[in-house]
Amino acid sequence: MSSTPLDPIKEEPVRDQALDAALRPTIWDEYEGQGHVKANVKVVLDAAKKRGDMPEHLLFYGPPGVGKTTLAHLVALTLEAPIRSTSGVAIERAGDLAAILTNLEPGSILFIDEIHQLGSKVEELLYPALESGTLDIVLGKGPSARTVELPLPRFTLVGATTRVSHISGPLRSRFGGGVYQLDFYSDEDLRSIIKRSLRVLNLSASDAVVEKIASRSRATPRVANALLKRVRDYAEVHEKDITPEVCDLACQMFGIDELGLTKDDKRYLETLATGFKGGPAGIRALASALHEDPDTLENVYEPYLLRLGYIERSPRGRMLTDKGEAYLANAS
Ligand SMILES: Nc1ncnc2c1ncn2[C@@H]1O[C@H](COP(=O)(O)OP(=O)(O)OP(=O)(O)O)[C@@H](O)[C@H]1O
Ligand SMILES: [Mg+2]
Repeated sequence: MSSTPLDPIKEEPVRDQALDAALRPTIWDEYEGQGHVKANVKVVLDAAKKRGDMPEHLLFYGPPGVGKTTLAHLVALTLEAPIRSTSGVAIERAGDLAAILTNLEPGSILFIDEIHQLGSKVEELLYPALESGTLDIVLGKGPSARTVELPLPRFTLVGATTRVSHISGPLRSRFGGGVYQLDFYSDEDLRSIIKRSLRVLNLSASDAVVEKIASRSRATPRVANALLKRVRDYAEVHEKDITPEVCDLACQMFGIDELGLTKDDKRYLETLATGFKGGPAGIRALASALHEDPDTLENVYEPYLLRLGYIERSPRGRMLTDKGEAYLANAS
């Protein structure tokens, strides 16, 4: 089954990677939106700095591309702490985690992306590390087995996930610094992000262009930046300035409509409408009809369709709403 992102603008050419690093905010003032989260996290960090201590562990969750990794880096920058980044899938065995923890520089941030993917054995080893800063090593087997507590360097875990419901209760409760939800962005915040990106990329464009890109960005900063870069590419290739017309032409070429929806979003809605008579459709059946895996549906297609109110998730499955039906009627 394909696990490729559905959206053509999410497929980043290699040359964009250096630019992406430049577009990632490195100071709080450049981190737009999420005011509530920012204010709370800053208090936790400031208080820790005043005490001359590391902050308690933090968890960020929300849909892809809304700034979780960026925030983790901002935390490290604020504390002037080294950051060690890894992910839930990369830490396969308890031994992998033990190696990471014992090798941390004291006072580090350990960033674990997609932390919901940690296996249960790894999670168990993580608990005492988070709680008492120790690694519990079991020596021997059977009745003579005993546990030795190895002290670890001081560290703060910053976890990120797109699937907070998959985080176990015991793990969740160990994020004493807070569990923070990052939400979709307003058009106004997206416009500020696009304007900053234009400056970083040394480009100029009118407010009308910024407006157009913002409204097609699926309320997501990563999509806003990716779309801006694709529009820039289109303008470069056609030796044109970035005008609203060029924006429209580029979006047409990439199959992105006025709302930022792609052919794949439409295929999802159409399959739900015709293949499942508007639902309820079970996620697995829907994924199989679309030749996608259920995770991609849940993480890539659905968050924005839910936000638009085009679909609903019920205990019996996915349902197409009247709004979703109206969209399809206009789109075809
Ligand atoms: N609040 C923000 N202000 C400005 N730019 C942002 C903000 N949040 C994200 N971005 C931009 O969007 C890009 C993607 O953000 P980031 O990688 O932090 O998202 P994420 O939530 O970690 O996504 P994923 O779930 O896919 O890992 C960043 O590189 C940055 O350029
Ligand atoms: Mg990330």
